[in-house]
Amino acid sequence: MTMTFRARIDGHQIRCELGTDRPLTAPVLCFSLMAPWRVVSGGTMVRSVAGYGEIALPDLSAGAVHELVLVHVIERHKPRNRAWLPMGAYLRVGKDCLPLPPATDLGLRDGEGPARRPLEPGRLPLVPQPTGWAASAGTLDFAALAPTPGVESAAELAGRLGLAPFVAPGGTALTVTEDASLGPEAYRLTIAPGGLSVAVGGAAGLHYAAITLLTLRETCDGKLPCGVITDSPRFGWRGQHLDCARHFFGVDFILRLLDLMALVKLNRFHWHFADDEAFRLEVACQPLLWQRTAFRGEGELVPGVFGGGIRAGGSYSKADVAKVLARAAALQIEVLPEIEVPAHSHGMIKAIPGLRDPGDNGEEASVQGYIDNIVNPAMPATWEVLQPLTEEVAGLFPFGMLHLGADEAPHGAWDGSPAVAALKGREGLANSDDVQGWMLARLAAGLAAKGIRVAAWEEAAKGVQGGIGNGALLFSWTGQGPGVEAARRGHDVVMCPAQNAYFDLAHSDDPDDWGAAWAGFVPLAKTVDWDPVPKGAEDIEPRIAGVEACFWGEFTTEDSQAEGMIAPRILGIATKAWEPSGRTDGAAIVALAGCYAPLFDRIGWKRHRLA
Ligand code: ACM
Repeated sequence: MTMTFRARIDGHQIRCELGTDRPLTAPVLCFSLMAPWRVVSGGTMVRSVAGYGEIALPDLSAGAVHELVLVHVIERHKPRNRAWLPMGAYLRVGKDCLPLPPATDLGLRDGEGPARRPLEPGRLPLVPQPTGWAASAGTLDFAALAPTPGVESAAELAGRLGLAPFVAPGGTALTVTEDASLGPEAYRLTIAPGGLSVAVGGAAGLHYAAITLLTLRETCDGKLPCGVITDSPRFGWRGQHLDCARHFFGVDFILRLLDLMALVKLNRFHWHFADDEAFRLEVACQPLLWQRTAFRGEGELVPGVFGGGIRAGGSYSKADVAKVLARAAALQIEVLPEIEVPAHSHGMIKAIPGLRDPGDNGEEASVQGYIDNIVNPAMPATWEVLQPLTEEVAGLFPFGMLHLGADEAPHGAWDGSPAVAALKGREGLANSDDVQGWMLARLAAGLAAKGIRVAAWEEAAKGVQGGIGNGALLFSWTGQGPGVEAARRGHDVVMCPAQNAYFDLAHSDDPDDWGAAWAGFVPLAKTVDWDPVPKGAEDIEPRIAGVEACFWGEFTTEDSQAEGMIAPRILGIATKAWEPSGRTDGAAIVALAGCYAPLFDRIGWKRHRLA
């Protein structure tokens, strides 16, 4: 049996054509779009969950091509590029599910990198640029280091990346000295025609010096320019987030991402393994939670939203966590786990009874279109589940910090819940922000008492009682304004403004590009075209812990599709996280990306064509 399925953007609408070489009786077409939608013509929607829908079609005869026209429910969700077309499509005919071919070519098109162009004088082909570079005459031929204690992790990294050995007998000697005046991540590297020496503040400083040498060997074709590099990071938090809930990224991809992060001196991996679609960590206290949500699709608790199709998913075992932690530790990276409450909890609510008020008659919808994705803090079960769950998850990760989520509570959340109405009366709370703030503060206080620091998205600062409190680290994502405000109210803040740091946003407005667009487009230049401490907010500089890039997986169906979304933009975010303000602008990062293009190719990491 042969079936065809293609879709294209037509203004605000999406036109699909379904062809079959056999007659089909009462077929139901199932697929997802990026956001909730309705049928304009060609069928009848019989079920929808967020952006997933099932359409009853008329009987189809052999050789028929059936046209279907769709439109997003909310006008601002106008389709922008191929990522907005149907994903995970299949036909249900009777009891059978028949997968359909992709409606469009999936993922970024492989791009040609830019031609390598000369760097401005005074720059090294290195990202991030070092704090100081004093060039002197000559070059040093450099193939490998002689065995040197403290550079093993860089040597192992080179091996995993498929690069030439970084440490080899007979290699160039590196003289290492400790300098107590340098910070733990700082180093001073001297490259001279006669050899190499480095002064370091600690193990991390030596690791970063080794990464610098490894990178320069690659980008300078083995001829290192002589001079002195003085280097230390601007921020302690240099993060990369990965959404493994919408798309289950295999552990091997996560390990490769950690390697890539290490190459650009990022040091925090924010592991987002729980969201509406799944809770992917195998925890002892709630086996039903991950067992029942690990897979979504036909017959599962959560249908094939975000390209899930007939079946997609997986979960991370304790052994997987151990692998991620071991790799991260070797690369000076800490791992921040995130659970998502109170909103973004659709799967959790489906898997565990008692997390919603049975008397709640509200119909509030999340921005993704879920109408039941927020756990209810007035239900005893919520606390019976969340307290042990948060403690167990935090306990699996040595970093001692747990991200609780707290983003995107649906407007009017809990307004229909009599139990929350009673809670508001008891606790002096007026609205959903107050209720969420109260809930997060209570959860955070319990964790803080056990020595666990909490983190959360920017919304956690809202609420009449001051929100989450308890020394929480907040992540400013809708822009920098909420981060500035939270910092002025005493929070430490990580800046991850979508406009500059969201790698799921398309690089450009080209309809042949790939990605979301709700906060505009993010070409490489924009990843450096901002200051983590915005002009006029210099007073909050001590509160800015650092910078993080986020990759959300709503329209990712294969691990490799994330590669070109992350690279080369990861160069820009690493630049913002490490360098002093204003050092590398858009033109300079594009030129540096040109130097890195052959390196990305050598390590087998796909990159965008720099639209
Ligand atoms: C987010 O992007 N909802 C944190």
